[in-house]
Formats: sequence, structure tokens, C-alpha cells
Amino acid sequence: MKAVILIGGQGTRLRPLTCNIPKSMVPILNEPFLEYLLLYLKKHGITDVVLAMGYLPDAIQKGLGDGSRLGMRLTYSVEPSPMGTAGAVKFAEPHLDREPFLVFNGDIITEIDLGAMIKLHRELGAKASIALTPVDNPTAFGVVETQAEGRITRFVEKPKPEQVTTNMINAGIYILQPEVLDLIPAGSHYMFEHHLFPLLLHRGDFMLAYPSQEYWIDIGTPEKYLKVHHDLLSKMGHLTHNKANIHPTARLGGTVMFGDGCVIEAGARLIGPLALGPGCHIGENATIEGSVLWDHVIVRKRASISNSIIGSGALIESKVDIPDQCVIGDKTVILEDTHLPAGSKVWPGLRVGEADLPLKPPQ
Ligand code: GTP
Repeated sequence: MKAVILIGGQGTRLRPLTCNIPKSMVPILNEPFLEYLLLYLKKHGITDVVLAMGYLPDAIQKGLGDGSRLGMRLTYSVEPSPMGTAGAVKFAEPHLDREPFLVFNGDIITEIDLGAMIKLHRELGAKASIALTPVDNPTAFGVVETQAEGRITRFVEKPKPEQVTTNMINAGIYILQPEVLDLIPAGSHYMFEHHLFPLLLHRGDFMLAYPSQEYWIDIGTPEKYLKVHHDLLSKMGHLTHNKANIHPTARLGGTVMFGDGCVIEAGARLIGPLALGPGCHIGENATIEGSVLWDHVIVRKRASISNSIIGSGALIESKVDIPDQCVIGDKTVILEDTHLPAGSKVWPGLRVGEADLPLKPPQ
């Protein structure tokens, strides 16, 4: 079965991380997210993939090429302007044969069993199947109501607390019969959630729910991006550190992942779950906890970083304090002795000091 991965969104909620690279190329455990996703599809027997894209396509095409490095076949469908989730699949139609196919939102990490979902779709003869995943608070999502045997009966967008009948939401993974493509108007912006799925329901087509309790998260916000790292690293346990040059007096606790060529100086404290990209340099007595540092970040003496994300090539000067949930863009400089407020977002390339606080929202 072929798959279409939707990666044409702008990733605005993940800014400033997505100012210079698309959301699908942000690193997850030091590898581009899309590679992680492609290997998951390959594990489930799907090796023929169409990437439906638009925003910053070059970085993706350069990084992945024809997919042969991963043992997969990749083709690219580049929209001149965003067509919406279903519109993008219609635009990619020339890359699909008239066979059932899978659609995957390109910002999900999951362990949902695709093989089992495909089998059920075929056995029950559904026109469209939608994977569902539970959430704690469904009022912020589109929930999907079903009958006992899995037939979808209703979509409710952002239900009020008193309207909530289920906590199962659309997980952004679909299997579609090819004739469904005929219902999507060519050349217009069209969404699965708001247009195609309600239309199929209205027509009385059999839409099947595939509820799953397996791990599922979308990496669409900095909080979730950090949480994915905490979840994945915590599952990995102790890692060997032969890629890094670590001073004997540095202290490591929890799971800490290093890219190639990291240098950790005397007295530094690294407390996992923590991922450091290639070429990071952590100065004397600096403390870094629960964070994700992209490649070539320099952290000077006695700086501290907690539960935050630091973009490529950023420079964190000495005695800087970066508390919880900050996001620092690529090549940003945070000047000596600056104490950022929790939740700060600093756009790429800026030089920020104590005198610049509070930060103005970006234009
Ligand atoms: P935000 O700007 O933060 O909302 O992110 P987004 O638009 O990238 O993601 P959203 O959650 O809205 O969309 C879900 C998935 O569909 C993401 O993987 C997007 O890349 C993808 N997507 C959204 N709109 C389009 C589109 O017009 N074309 C294509 N090809 N993909 C899209």
C-alpha cells in the first residue's frame, strides 16, 4: 500500500524552531523527524511514500532524495500554495494508482499498528478508515463518535464539556479507497476534517473507526516536542557516551544522548532526559536539565538551562538562566547574566541581554 505524508503546513505553533526549517525536519533524538516517521512506516511494510509538501521543500528533498538510503521509494508532490489536508492528497493523485492508500499527518509520532488497521479496513470493506486515539481533555479537539462495531456516526468539533460523549479523537491517520479522490474538488483548498469526512458521512458511506491505545503524540507545539523527547529518552535507559568528550568531574544523571563531537567541561551537570546535538560544547559548571539542544550549541560557564529547547548554533553566555519551557531560535546569542522568564521564545539570530527584557512579541 502507498502512503501520502502531509508535510505542507507552516508549523506556526512550533516557531521559532520552524522559522528556518520545516516541522518535518526538526530533529527527534538527533535525526530528522521525517526519517523517524518513514522508518516507522517501513517497519509496517510501507515503503512507497508520496510527500505532499509546499513550505520550504528544498531542505526535505535534499535531505531524503529518492529514499534509497532508507530502502524506500519517495516521490514529491509540491503544491504551489497550501491546498489543505484533503486538497493536498487530491493534488498528489497523479502519484497514486487506483488502489487503497494510507494518509498520514506529518507531525505524529505513534506506535499504532498500521498492519492491523489495514487488515480491518479490507475485511470490513470500509470506504474510509480513521485511526482514533484517546486524550484527557477532548474539548480542544475534534472528537469522533462511533457505534459498537466501529461505524463512525458523528464528528463533533471542540465539544463543550456537557457535550462530551467520548474522549477518542482523530489521530490524523487514514486509509482511503481510491474513489474517495473523486469527491475532492481539484485545485481548491479542502480539508479532511471539515469537508471530506462530513461529506462521506452525509452520503452514508461506511467510515470505520480504528481506536488505538498505543502511544500517539503530535509534535506540533514546543511543549509536545519536549514531551516526545522525555518519553522516548526515558524508555531508552542508560546510553553509552563514547561519542562525547566528557571531563571526569562532569556529572551525568538519567538518560543523556550525545551527538558526535560534544565536549563537556569540568563540573558540568547534565540531568536527563536530555538530548545534545552534534558538536555541542558545555562549559565549566553549567547545568542542563530535561532539555533538547540542537547541533553546535555553545553553553558557557555556570549557565543553566531547564526543560527548554535551544536551536542550532545558539550561544548561551556565562551565568545565563534559561528556565522551563523556553524556546531559543537558531544562532541566537543570550548575553552574560541574562535571566530569561519561563516560557520565553527568542527568534533566530537575535542577541538578547537583560536590558532587552521583557521580550517584545515578534512582528
Ligand atoms: P500549525 O501552523 O502550527 O497549525 O501547523 P501545521 O499547519 O503544520 O499543522 P496542522 O496540525 O495544522 O496540520 C496537520 C498536518 O497536515 C501537518 O503535518 C501539516 O504539515 C499538514 N498540512 C496542513 N495543511 C497542509 C496543506 O495545505 N498541504 C499539505 N501538503 N500538508 C498540510
